[in-house]
Amino acid sequence: MSIPITESVTWVGKIDWELRKFHGEEYSTHRGSTYNSYLVRDQKTALIDTVWAPFAKEFVDRLFEVVRPEDIDFVIANHAESDHSGALPELMRHLPGKPIYCTANGIKSLRGHYHQDWNFQPVKTGDRLSLGNRELIFVEAPMLHWPDSMFCYLTGEEILFSNDAFGQHLAAEEPFNDRVDPCELWAECIKYYANILTPFSPLVKKKIEEFVSLKLPLKMICTSHGVIWRDNPLQIVEQYLAWAEAYQENQVTILYDTMWNATRIMAETIAAGLRQAAPDLTVKIFNCARSDKNDLITEVFRSKAILLGSPTINQGILSAVAGLLEEMRGLRFRNKRAAAFGSFGWSGECVKLLTEKLAEAGFETVEEGLRLSWQPDGEGLEQCRSFGQNFAAKIR
Ligand code: FEO
Repeated sequence: MSIPITESVTWVGKIDWELRKFHGEEYSTHRGSTYNSYLVRDQKTALIDTVWAPFAKEFVDRLFEVVRPEDIDFVIANHAESDHSGALPELMRHLPGKPIYCTANGIKSLRGHYHQDWNFQPVKTGDRLSLGNRELIFVEAPMLHWPDSMFCYLTGEEILFSNDAFGQHLAAEEPFNDRVDPCELWAECIKYYANILTPFSPLVKKKIEEFVSLKLPLKMICTSHGVIWRDNPLQIVEQYLAWAEAYQENQVTILYDTMWNATRIMAETIAAGLRQAAPDLTVKIFNCARSDKNDLITEVFRSKAILLGSPTINQGILSAVAGLLEEMRGLRFRNKRAAAFGSFGWSGECVKLLTEKLAEAGFETVEEGLRLSWQPDGEGLEQCRSFGQNFAAKIR
């Protein structure tokens, strides 16, 4: 399958309708994904990125239905992660000696993955590769999201090939932003940003400003996952700038796990207190153990504050909540407030531990935390409501 994009650019990637987990089991992909690869034909022909290894043979077979191997002059590897480089070994068997353009870090990573002595050509920001009438201009994008990441820009067509940046995991028969359900598209975009790009937000802003300063006209953004932004491509750039600025909505997310429902009852009663004190606040409640962790991270990203609850078990934290804390620590959220709560039977260390770990993860803890012994009764429920009301006042 190939899809014409412009006069010189053809999409030759793979739509993965079946994908439900990505990065091993780390990232849920409820709506599948795509591995976008692009063929650029001018007087010379360049192939930008490939696909994930399980589809290597299928990719190469289909590619050679639209271009002869001897007619491919250059391979561009914008990013060495396996979902984009996985078909390189199969491809390069057919293109012996052909140059692969990538960053210096890309060479290290591709050598580390495949142990092949390919004809690597390192490029830096501003380097140009002539295809004849058009040129590819390379722009290094380290840590967006790997040290080797790179964009390239096609003059004449005015297309930015942004690799992972501005992408999302969304399988679509017609991979254009104006041809998919906008609610699904934006849900996947924010999930992608929240789960992958959050720690690199300062770099996102800097890289966008750097690209804008190059004053290159932009008609289209061709990402490596999901849709091609051809209708108002700047909308995703503007949205990234907003997300990069310690993004938050008027939302509080309550995340908990429970064994015998006491911590669940606390969560729901705290939520009632929050709503009572701040009727305009969006309050969402999730049982961490029964929810998709990437969807939870997306809710945390959207929140101005979170409440985290767990009963005490073995003098510690229930594993689903502890796992989520580790995720949040790594993502380095900024400008978010938090507090902890939980029930206990005997020793009751959990709330203190949660509060400490929230602070370590970069949250501003605005309450000491609420812990109740056994099942909450009338007085306990009143404490939960007050806790919610006080929390609402502190995050106002
Ligand atoms: Fe889509 Fe970082 O790979």
